[in-house]
Amino acid sequence: GGRLKIKDLLRSNSVGSEVTAKGWVRTKRGNKNVAFIALNDGSTINNIQVVVEVSNFNEELLKQITTGACLKVVGTLVESVGSGQSVEMLAKEIEIYGTADANTYPLQKKGHSLEFLREIAHLRPRTNTFGAVLRIRHAMAYAIHKYFNDRGFFYLHTPIITGSDAEGAGAMFQVTTLDLNNPPRTEDGKIDYTQDFFGKSTNLTVSGQLEGELGAMALSEIYTFGPTFRAENSNTPRHLAEFWMIEPEMAFYEIVDNMNLAEDFLKNLIQYALDNCMEDLEFLNKMYDEELIERLKFVVSNDFVRLPYTEAIDILMASGHKFEFPVSWGLDLQSEHERYLVEKHFMKPVILTDYPKEIKAFYMKQNPDGKTVRAMDVLFPKIGEIIGGSQREENYEKLMDRITELEIPEKDMWWYLDTRRFGTAPHSGFGLGFERLLLFVTGMGNIRDVIPFPRTPNTAEF
Ligand code: 4AD
Ligand code: MG
Repeated sequence: GGRLKIKDLLRSNSVGSEVTAKGWVRTKRGNKNVAFIALNDGSTINNIQVVVEVSNFNEELLKQITTGACLKVVGTLVESVGSGQSVEMLAKEIEIYGTADANTYPLQKKGHSLEFLREIAHLRPRTNTFGAVLRIRHAMAYAIHKYFNDRGFFYLHTPIITGSDAEGAGAMFQVTTLDLNNPPRTEDGKIDYTQDFFGKSTNLTVSGQLEGELGAMALSEIYTFGPTFRAENSNTPRHLAEFWMIEPEMAFYEIVDNMNLAEDFLKNLIQYALDNCMEDLEFLNKMYDEELIERLKFVVSNDFVRLPYTEAIDILMASGHKFEFPVSWGLDLQSEHERYLVEKHFMKPVILTDYPKEIKAFYMKQNPDGKTVRAMDVLFPKIGEIIGGSQREENYEKLMDRITELEIPEKDMWWYLDTRRFGTAPHSGFGLGFERLLLFVTGMGNIRDVIPFPRTPNTAEF
């Protein structure tokens, strides 16, 4: 028969027929009469067991079948006696596509530490852990597109190379065609970016939001889903220099509508994982986090807490808890504060709103109190901030005042300001860090372990 993926072989009911499997050897064991090969092709966490009657095969060939080798096996599908699966294969023909020298192949039968696997990121997708994580990552990406498509949102592709600094964070990767060893200079000695490719200085995007707002002001409801780059603060278990962000932006949404969408969206994605990724979740639950599945079920079935920043500060100050970083009104929350609220105080996800305007971006809608803005951060157990969002300032004068106050060059922002000059409307949006979501759904502890090829300081071999 033609090749079937191992996932399909394992649930096939064609016992007795001839089938073909292709995959990589996880383990080989046995005795001088019979060998058992566990074969995996990444379609599922489960292996198919290949039973080999040693006397039917060339001894040299069997010797070359070691952990990591890639095989084609033709054989009969038979009911399994003891492999833990319902069916196994009785081998008739084996072809070796590629051997993997046991003395140099870095992945062996024994479990490896996550730290070690990070050093061999090129091979770690072949492990059970990374197979599970990458399948869940795919499922979540699909669920995100499905969620928005089902609700009439349009997928908007925003630029990767941009001249704008959406978050005002200042931690951008510059993109240039100039020879920085010998750049053209202006009369006052500065680098002359008018001679650069775009005629100005550009960088990799830190967020697609501002362009997303342009889309929402025409298509009503859009979302972006793409890579995002930040050159700062990347040496923590929750930060990457290159991460993926999902940014829905909606015309006619007030902050409450935005919160409702964020909560429904997160619950829907987690439920999708529970419905479609159970085998992988069970593996991760067993290996890394015994409360994982319980936690996922809890989050989908309980309302998130909604709380103004000011009240959160009161709770933190009254807690008597010794925090590493100070807490007082006006200071930004650190992840230890966020996690205290979620894990110790409320024991539920929390949406914090109405932050002081000084610690939030220029585009957020100002509250009548003159001190706070209509921001919303969604805080999750084990993660801290998973979503950041807000209602946007739609009033041209108020937005202009803030831009002037923060000394943001107006000439860079004319296109954005035009949305407030022509047919402005109330609108809101948020950004979900894809890898933060995956940390939560997989129960992994380090963000480097939920992206295939992590980019953090000093780690970009390929
Ligand atoms: O809170 P942030 O900076 O918000 C924005 O970028 C807004 N423009 C979003 C919007 O309103 N459209 O980032 C949003 C989310 C964070 O909550 C976090 O989940 C994730 O992006 N994030 C990171 N994830 C991994 N590594 C980093 N360095 C991250 N920085 C932010
Ligand atoms: Mg944020």
